[in-house]
Amino acid sequence: MDKSLDIELTVNGSRLRRRVAARTHLVDFLREELGLTGSHAGCEHGVCGACTLRVDGEIVRGCLMLAVQANGRRVDTIEGLSDSGEIARLQQAFHRHNALQCGFCTPGMVIAAQELVRQGRKASREEIRAHLSGNYCRCTGYQAIVDAVEEVVNGQG
Ligand code: FES
Ligand code: FES
Repeated sequence: MDKSLDIELTVNGSRLRRRVAARTHLVDFLREELGLTGSHAGCEHGVCGACTLRVDGEIVRGCLMLAVQANGRRVDTIEGLSDSGEIARLQQAFHRHNALQCGFCTPGMVIAAQELVRQGRKASREEIRAHLSGNYCRCTGYQAIVDAVEEVVNGQG
């Protein structure tokens, strides 16, 4: 039996009500129901970080959380963070350093990197690599990504 439930949540500042199947993952709800396709579903096992989102200000794996678990909570996706300008410096730095190729990992990578920026302290390349170690990129070899994040975290971006 496929049970459905009513949920009410705030997504990128907009209050929404929807009826969702209890088994729907948050990343699939955002992509398929709301058309917010910036959050990607990669491994769907909590490993690759492509589905990284913020729920009540904390980064989470959208593939490990059910949409019904977001009931009453605030969800921010790459679209909302981009529209608000919060990640503008990272976006510019990624662009400047050519820190992406296919772009599949990039939304999750940027949301994860923004966590480091929000900590407001300088970080070594090793610390940046450790911080981003839960976000996989199959294309870039990470060098340019770390260059871009380093520039912003250490205040040059
Ligand atoms: S799709 Fe969620 S961690 Fe890979
Ligand atoms: S740019 Fe292709 S997976 Fe990272």
